[in-house]
Amino acid sequence: MCGIIGYTGRQNAIPKITAGLSVLEYRGYDSAGLAAAGNGRITTIKCCGRVKDLEEKLRQTEEIITTCAIGHTRWATHGGVTDRNAHPHTVGYVTLVHNGIIENEKEWRERLTLDGYHFSSETDTEVAAALLNRAYQKTKDPLQAIYGVLEILRGSYAFAMIFADRTDEIYAVRQDSPLLIAQGEDGCYLASDLTALVSYASTYCVPDEGVVVRLNQDGIFLCYKDGTQKEPIYQQSGMQHAAAERGGYDTFMKKEICEQPQALRAALNGREAEGLPDFSINALPTDFFDNVHRIHIVACGSAMHAGLLGARLLERDTGIPTTIFIASEYRYHMPPKEEGTLLIAISQSGETADTLAALRAAKARGIPVLAIVNAENTAIAREAAHVLYTHAGPEIAVATTKGYCTQVALLWMISLFLSNRRKTIAQDTIKERLAFLKESAPKAISAVIARESELSHIAERLDGHDRLFYIGRGRDYALAAEGSLKLKEISYVHSEAYAAGELKHGTISLIEPGTPVIAFCTEDALAEKMLSNVREVASRGASVTVLCKASLSSLFLQSAVVFPLDCENDETAVFAMMTAMQLIAYETARRRGCDVDKPRNLAKSVTVE
Ligand code: F6R
Repeated sequence: MCGIIGYTGRQNAIPKITAGLSVLEYRGYDSAGLAAAGNGRITTIKCCGRVKDLEEKLRQTEEIITTCAIGHTRWATHGGVTDRNAHPHTVGYVTLVHNGIIENEKEWRERLTLDGYHFSSETDTEVAAALLNRAYQKTKDPLQAIYGVLEILRGSYAFAMIFADRTDEIYAVRQDSPLLIAQGEDGCYLASDLTALVSYASTYCVPDEGVVVRLNQDGIFLCYKDGTQKEPIYQQSGMQHAAAERGGYDTFMKKEICEQPQALRAALNGREAEGLPDFSINALPTDFFDNVHRIHIVACGSAMHAGLLGARLLERDTGIPTTIFIASEYRYHMPPKEEGTLLIAISQSGETADTLAALRAAKARGIPVLAIVNAENTAIAREAAHVLYTHAGPEIAVATTKGYCTQVALLWMISLFLSNRRKTIAQDTIKERLAFLKESAPKAISAVIARESELSHIAERLDGHDRLFYIGRGRDYALAAEGSLKLKEISYVHSEAYAAGELKHGTISLIEPGTPVIAFCTEDALAEKMLSNVREVASRGASVTVLCKASLSSLFLQSAVVFPLDCENDETAVFAMMTAMQLIAYETARRRGCDVDKPRNLAKSVTVE
């Protein structure tokens, strides 16, 4: 949610900033801009639209050569999507870019207005710039000015700031928003996430919250409020440069769907001893779960859907009562305190503000937190007592696929681990299920990907429709919830996921002749009930497509178009089904000419509550 980037060094900064913005664009793509410092002045170029629009604007402007610049790609929070609201914002000496939200901006906007300041944008960022300029005019000391302003600002931020009379220096600071710094061979870098830094440096540092960072020709320094300064301690990045590239695919989403077999293997790799699940590689004590009597799972969006599926597995296999909470609701309605509660926070980005807030609320109550995270060293990973990384590799498409896939895999693994500890399932069965997850499930995903053209025909059945229903029972309902979200977010077709048995309690009144219904059925025990639900909608004229286990196909053939999935166990069924529903959403979006990687109004990591 908003990407920021900065560079100061020996090379021309502009190509580095635009390249960095292209990589960070998945964080927000309402507008883009940069500010170049040099020759005693700051030049700002910004516009609504994508980074390519900014590049076009740069081409039409006199070439800027500078060794120090900052850039921003925006996901609008305060103020509409306009050129004026695009970042960077300049007030007097100060030019800055911002990711986050200043919560007391209204109060300061009013006070500054009374003092005679005229705002030229609707953003909270300009308020911060105006306050900083006012402080800087008094002190002429950037550190004193920044620390002074931080005392009066409330909210979340990562700022990168330059001053008109210090044109080779960048200052930066973060609070509840991501910011990384890295020393490259040709200069110093800052960015919102690692993907923008991997081409320039193999190590990085996450500065502590509230500590101002100075980047200049001498290097990068952490400058503390008491006047002391330190060099950052860098750590090795686990990310490969090529992992954040499209690698021959038309879209990142397609690439990431196709990467799921290897992502699934990577998620499970090394977490096994003698054929049984084992987390000692993650320094998770073997007895970690022994006193757990209740599990709360918090997450948002697709991660929450992974949790929904995981909760069903955990309860079925371990008998531990497990409840899934929408993270943004959790802290306002926390269940009564109960000894032995464990919170599992799930997040691909590791930055989601709602999930982070829920995690903090749980910690404040003394509830231990285990995080399942993809992006390394992010806030949720750092603040949890223990983290299990999903190792899916960078996920660039805004709609998650391999992130979700590996979250489900790890929850499954946890469930098997607990089943073994508690002896709720025989060891041989656990070994067999783990082998299915590791070996058969990746193959099942590949087999579905190979049938893409068939799924494209299913997508074709949705042509001309602007609403539909997904239905399923049990874990198929959890998968349907994700299928429906995937379709909505990238193709803009309204769909609703329903527990199949619930439709008849009201919503079935929306079924008309031709209404598309996509039904999932992979659970033998629920197949007959599913058939009744399919017949209920088919007899009212719905155009039903059933995705089911191949062995159940004949049941549905009379009432629906059937897409049979070759899957002989729960493990292959779940991963085959998730791949099929991702590809249906993908094909539908492509048929409608949508930008699948950057759907409208969305951004990859949602760092505001
Ligand atoms: C949907 C999607 C979102 C995220 C949600 C949580 O495709 O990507 O619903 O799943 O915003 O994000 P993370 O997992 O980064 O916390």
